[in-house]
Amino acid sequence: VTPEELARAAQAVLPADVYAYVASGAGAQTTLAANDAAWAALAFRPRALAAAGPPDTRTTLLGTAVATPIGVAPTASHALLSPEAEPGTARGAREAGSLYVLSTRSSTPLEEVAAHAGPWWFQLYALRDAGLTRELAVRAAAAGAGALVLTGDTPVLGRRERGSGTRLLPPGRGPLAVLGRDVDVRAELLEQDPHVGWDAVGRLAEASGLPVVVKGVLRADDAQQARSAGAAAVVVSNHGGRQLDGAVATARALPEVVDTVGGDLEVYVDGGLRRGTDVLRALALGARAVLVGRPVLWALATGGGDGVRELLTGLTAELALALQLAGCPDVAVVPRDLVLPS
Ligand SMILES: Cc1cc2nc3c(=O)[nH]c(=O)nc-3n(C[C@H](O)[C@H](O)[C@H](O)COP(=O)(O)O)c2cc1C
Repeated sequence: VTPEELARAAQAVLPADVYAYVASGAGAQTTLAANDAAWAALAFRPRALAAAGPPDTRTTLLGTAVATPIGVAPTASHALLSPEAEPGTARGAREAGSLYVLSTRSSTPLEEVAAHAGPWWFQLYALRDAGLTRELAVRAAAAGAGALVLTGDTPVLGRRERGSGTRLLPPGRGPLAVLGRDVDVRAELLEQDPHVGWDAVGRLAEASGLPVVVKGVLRADDAQQARSAGAAAVVVSNHGGRQLDGAVATARALPEVVDTVGGDLEVYVDGGLRRGTDVLRALALGARAVLVGRPVLWALATGGGDGVRELLTGLTAELALALQLAGCPDVAVVPRDLVLPS
């Protein structure tokens, strides 16, 4: 199944507004398109007679062993896509040996998801209600999350013209269903806090005892800020083109981040990674791992947790093939000169 076929199959089974909510980007969707194009623009320089046997795709992410550097990006409201919802996604990722990053906007309580998960991290939005934010951090740690992923590109939601998620949510699956209890605060306190700054990194690390990963870094100076603030890793991300339209494609932002903090922090990337060859390009630019967003949701919609497993194992097999064809024996040592500068 090609990435395009998978998206079409999901479109065929989903209500039109749910499909549009997932598929769309912000504004004119410039960044959404740029993400895909920037990976495709990177040409490989494969090695001849490299004597490289079957490659090893195993790696570690902040010390956690995974079978593949391809993980699941945090995405909201899986109940919109399948009755299996987040527990299905968690199981699929576990069976593929992939990291699962659970969203704050999960439609299932986090402890219930954790019961189905292999290695998993918790994506945190700093909410206007600081007490709830802290509760999420502490409960994620108690439930076995290996890290907190603080999303830094969403002070408010970007303008998406083609579908809104929250108005589609079924009863009991609301914006803080992840807590699994009624929350007696004004609705706007459940939104992201637009005033959150770099000091949140230390605060959340202290509250949870977990390493903090900052997601949404697109510049070298912000990567330095993340390091100074005590982050353990960064995700180069423009939120799949759903926040500031016109933001730089992640394939173009990745090298400056790797060059600046790659010696000290793990660097991951997401946005438009659709094939094993895209993953190899990301590894060549210095990413330690990649996260995949929309394709996981399409796989969940069409095949439940089994579909998610098949997607992730299929992408990992594609990556292994690409590594071998390029003459690289190991995901951990893909040299930058494997791709031509774009
Ligand atoms: C439907 C949808 C919901 C998302 N929800 C979240 C979220 O709750 N938290 C977050 O940090 N990122 C969220 N993202 C962004 C993803 O984590 C990721 O950055 C992006 O989807 C990667 O691009 P890709 O979809 O092209 O793979 C969402 C993306 C989509 C498509």
